[in-house]
Amino acid sequence: MSDYWQSTAPGAGCRASRAQAPGDARTMSLNGTWRFRLSPTAAGTGTAFQTDEFDDSDWDRMPVPSHWVLEPFTPLAGGPARSMRGTSEGPLYTNTSYPIPLDPPRVGSDNPTGDYRLAFDAPDGWAHAVLRFQGVDSCAKVWLNGAELGWSTGSRLPFEFDAPLRPGRNVLAVRVHRWSAGTYLEDQDMWWLPGIFRDVELLERPADAIDDHFVHADYDAQTGCGTLRVDASIASIVEVPELGIRMAAGEVMTIPVEPWSAHSPRLYRGTLRSPGEVIELAIGFRRIEVVGGALHANGTPLTFRGVNRHEHHPDTGRTLDRETMLRDVLLMKRANIDAVRTSHYPPHPEFLRLCDEYGLWVVEECDLETHGFIFTGWEGNPPDEPAWRDALLDRLVRTVERDKNHPSIVIWSMANESGTGKTFGDMRTYLTERDPSRPVLYERDPSYRDSDFYSLMYPSLEELDAIGRRDETRPDGVTDAEDERRRALPFLLVEYAHAMGNGPGSLSDYWRIMTAYERICGGFVWEWIDHGFNARDAHGRPYVMHGDDVADYEPRGGRFSLHGLIFADRTPTPGIVELAKAYAPLQIDMVAGRVRVRNGRHDGSTADLAFTWRVEVDGYARGQGALEVPAVAPGETVVVPMPVIDQFPLGEVVLTVQAALAADAAWAPTGHVVAWGQATIATRSPSAHLAPVCGGSRVSGSAELRVGAARFDPHTLRLRRLGDLDLDGPWLDLYRAPTENDHGQGDLNDIASVWASTGMGRMVDRIDEAEAGDGWLRVTGRTGPSAHPHGVAWSMCWRADGDGVVLETVADFVGPWENTPYRHRDIWVPRLGLLFALPGGMDEVEWFGRGPGETYVDSYEGSRIGRFTRRIDDLQTPYPVPQENGNHVQTRALQIRGAGMPTLGVQGRPTVDFTARRWRSLDLERAMHPVQLVDSGRVWLNLDHRQQGIGSASVGPALPERYRVPRERTTWSVRLG
Ligand code: GAL
Repeated sequence: MSDYWQSTAPGAGCRASRAQAPGDARTMSLNGTWRFRLSPTAAGTGTAFQTDEFDDSDWDRMPVPSHWVLEPFTPLAGGPARSMRGTSEGPLYTNTSYPIPLDPPRVGSDNPTGDYRLAFDAPDGWAHAVLRFQGVDSCAKVWLNGAELGWSTGSRLPFEFDAPLRPGRNVLAVRVHRWSAGTYLEDQDMWWLPGIFRDVELLERPADAIDDHFVHADYDAQTGCGTLRVDASIASIVEVPELGIRMAAGEVMTIPVEPWSAHSPRLYRGTLRSPGEVIELAIGFRRIEVVGGALHANGTPLTFRGVNRHEHHPDTGRTLDRETMLRDVLLMKRANIDAVRTSHYPPHPEFLRLCDEYGLWVVEECDLETHGFIFTGWEGNPPDEPAWRDALLDRLVRTVERDKNHPSIVIWSMANESGTGKTFGDMRTYLTERDPSRPVLYERDPSYRDSDFYSLMYPSLEELDAIGRRDETRPDGVTDAEDERRRALPFLLVEYAHAMGNGPGSLSDYWRIMTAYERICGGFVWEWIDHGFNARDAHGRPYVMHGDDVADYEPRGGRFSLHGLIFADRTPTPGIVELAKAYAPLQIDMVAGRVRVRNGRHDGSTADLAFTWRVEVDGYARGQGALEVPAVAPGETVVVPMPVIDQFPLGEVVLTVQAALAADAAWAPTGHVVAWGQATIATRSPSAHLAPVCGGSRVSGSAELRVGAARFDPHTLRLRRLGDLDLDGPWLDLYRAPTENDHGQGDLNDIASVWASTGMGRMVDRIDEAEAGDGWLRVTGRTGPSAHPHGVAWSMCWRADGDGVVLETVADFVGPWENTPYRHRDIWVPRLGLLFALPGGMDEVEWFGRGPGETYVDSYEGSRIGRFTRRIDDLQTPYPVPQENGNHVQTRALQIRGAGMPTLGVQGRPTVDFTARRWRSLDLERAMHPVQLVDSGRVWLNLDHRQQGIGSASVGPALPERYRVPRERTTWSVRLG
C-alpha cells in the first residue's frame, strides 16, 4: 500500500531490534538544529525534499529532538515566529477519545506532516554505519542521500536502518506524519505531540561487532550465589573483573554475589568483547518470581511502593534531558518510592540506566493502548484483529529487545487499557519463550489468562481488602477455571489514588491494606507528574496550560491531564508529602512507654540510619538527642526504651523519633529523613466544659452589644471588634471550592454538581433572635440556599473569658438533606465551620498543630504536629486549576498577625481546622487559573469544626463515609482573644 502511514504494518526496512549498551564503537549524535517545513497533508512538501540538491535555505529551523507543536515556529508563508500552543494545530489533549475519526487503519486527509532535513559530514573511517531514531511520533519515513531507507511507527520505540554513508556531505530527509495507523495503538491518556522527539544517532558498526546480547543474571537466595550467562550474537568474551569472571559468551558461571534490589542496587561492571567491539555490561543479579500466589524478589515477598510515570516537561513535552530524568529518580527515592510503572510506553533508555544505578523496581509497559475503541463497543479492537497482529508483536519485541538487560525491569506489561484479543495470547507466548525470567502483566482482560497477576485500577478500600483475602467478587464472563486461576495469582494494584488536583486522600489507608496481605505486591499511584505546559495569557501573565486551554478543538480531555504528585514544573505537591510517609520503609511508633521500630524494607538493615528524638511542649523544643537503636533486620521489629524526658507541668508533650541517613547515599545527603513517628505522651488541655448560660433577656434596639472584649454589630449581630482588632463574622460556612475529586468522574460521585444544583455555594443567613446576660450573648439563626428547603439552624453563644471570648456553636441540619426534592439527591456538606473577615494587613499565621503543608482528615499523617509560622500568601497551594486548598486539621492554637495591628489568637477546644487566604471559596471556584485570583483586601479565616476529606473520586471510589461531615446536630467551640 502506498499510503504506508495508513497501513497496519509496523514499518519497513528497519534492522532487527536489539539491546542498546555503551561501548567503544564510535557514535555521532545527529541532534541539533534541522531544517523543517510543516505541510497540511501527508503529501508533505512533495518528493523533491528527499534529494540531495534540494534547496532548504528558506525552511524553518527545528530543534531535534523536539515536538514541533511545542516549538516557536515560523509558518510556511513566512512571518514572525509564533507558538502553536493553545490552538488546534498545537498540542492536543484527549483522555480516551481518538483525535481522528475511528476508521482504522485510515486517518483523515488533514494530517500535519513535518518534512525534516539535515546535512552532515560523514565521520571518517567508519566501516559501516547504522542510523538510529530513539523515538518519532507517530510515523516516519527516512531517506539518505535521496535513497529511501524505510519507515516506521511506534512512537516511543527505537528503529534503526543500515546507513550507506558516502564520504563528505550526506543528507538525511525524514517525513513525519502526525496521524498514522499507529495512532490507533497509541491512545494513551496524554497530549498528542508529534515530531522527532528523542535522539537521532549514527552508530559505527565495525566488522565483527556485537549486534545484540542478552545478560541472564539470576540470584539464588538459598545459596547466595548468582548465575551468569551472557548470550551474544557473535563469539565474545565476558569479563567481570570484580568477580574474577572471564568466560565465553554463552557459558555459565555460578559464584557468590550480592543481589540487585531497589534498596541495594548492586551492579557489577564488566565488558563483553568481540573481535570488533567492546561493550559495557552493568550486571545486576536478581530473581523475580511468583511463589505461592505472591511476588518474591530474591526469595523474599516484594511490595512495590510505586508510582506511574509519564515522560513530561512543561516546555519540551516528552523530550527530556538526562538532568530531568535524574531529577525524577532523586525526587522519587527521597519520597520513599521504590517502584515505577513506565505508563504507558517504554521511557527514554537513559531513565532505565538511572533506575539500574539508583535502584527503582520497574514495570515496563509496551507502547500500546486502544482505549478509544470503547466508541465501537470494542468492535474492531486491534488486539483482536489479525491484520494488526504484526504491529502489536513488533511493539512488544522492540520493547523487550531494547531493554532486556536492565536489572531494574522486573515485569513486562503488555499494554494499557486495550480490551481483550487473541494477539495478547501470541504476545504472551513470545515473552514466555524469549524472557521467562520476568512475570507478565495485563490488567484489562477479566480472564487474566495471559497475565501472571490479578490487577485492577482504583478499587475501594473494601474491595482491596477482599482481594487481599482472595475473597474478591468474581468478574463477569469468566469460566470457573479462569476464576480459580485468578484467585491464586498475586495482586498488583496497577493504578490507585488519583492525584488530580488536591489529593489523593487515603494513601495511608491503602498502604496499610497492601502491607497486610502477601497477595498484594504493592501499588502504583496515578500519577507522577502533571502534564501541563508553560503558557502566557493575553496580558503576558504565566499560567499552566491544560486541555481546556486549547481553543476550537473537540474532543478534548480538559484538565484531566493534571493528575500528578508533582506539578508540571516538578514542584512537589502536598500529595507527595503524604505518600512519603505512607511509603516510609520503617514504622516508628510509641507503645506502652517505649519506641518500636519495624524495618519494612524488602532488604537491607537499618544500619545506614541514625535515630534521633525530640521533645516539644506545645510545639516549643524542650529536649533532643540521639536514640540508640540496634540495627534492625528487614521484616524485624525492635523495641527500645523512650528517652528520659523531663516532666512538664503544662502543655502537650510530643515526642518525635526520626531515622535519617547516617552518611551520604547516592540519592540523598546525610541527614535526609527516611522515616519518623510521633506521639503525644502527656497533655493538659483546657477543659472543653462550658457552664450553661442563664438569666438572660432578649436583645432589641440598636445599642452596641459587648461581651468582654468583644463588640457586636447591633443589626447583623456579628462580631465587629475584639479588643483593638476590627473584624467581621462569623458566617456559618458549609461550602468549599470544589476540588477535582469533588467533581467525581463523569456523573459518578460528582458531589460538586449536587452542590451547584442545590445552591450550596450561595447561602443566605437569617437571624432569628438574640439573648444576652451577664458576660454572654446568644444569637440564633438559620443558613440555607436560595430556592431550596434545606438549611442549618444554628446558635452561636459568646462568653467572656478573660481578655477573650469563647464561642460555642450548635448546628442542626433542618429540612431535606437526604433524597432531596431536587432530583432525589443526597447532599453532603463539604465543611461545617465559621468564616471571619480580617483586615488585609494580616500577613502571617503561627500555629500549633499539623504542618507545615496543608492537611485534610484523610491526608495528614505525613505532616507533623509542631509549631509553624508561614506568611498567609504561602499558605495556598498553587494548584493550576484553583480549588479548595490550604486547610490545616487538628490545629490546637493559632495566631494571626500583621505589622502594626493587634494579633488575633485562636484556641481550638480541643482543635479546629483552619484556612487563611485573601479570597473566598467562590473566588477560588470561579477562577480558571491562579493568575485570576486577586487579593480581596481582606483575609478570610475559616475556623471549622470539620471539613470533608479529599479522596480520589476524580477516578476512583466515592469518599469513604468516615471522611465526610456527618449531617447531625453538632456542637463545637473556639476561643478568640
Ligand atoms: C486510567 C488510565 C490512565 C489515566 C487514569 C486516569 O484508566 O490507565 O492512563 O487515564 O485512568 O487519570
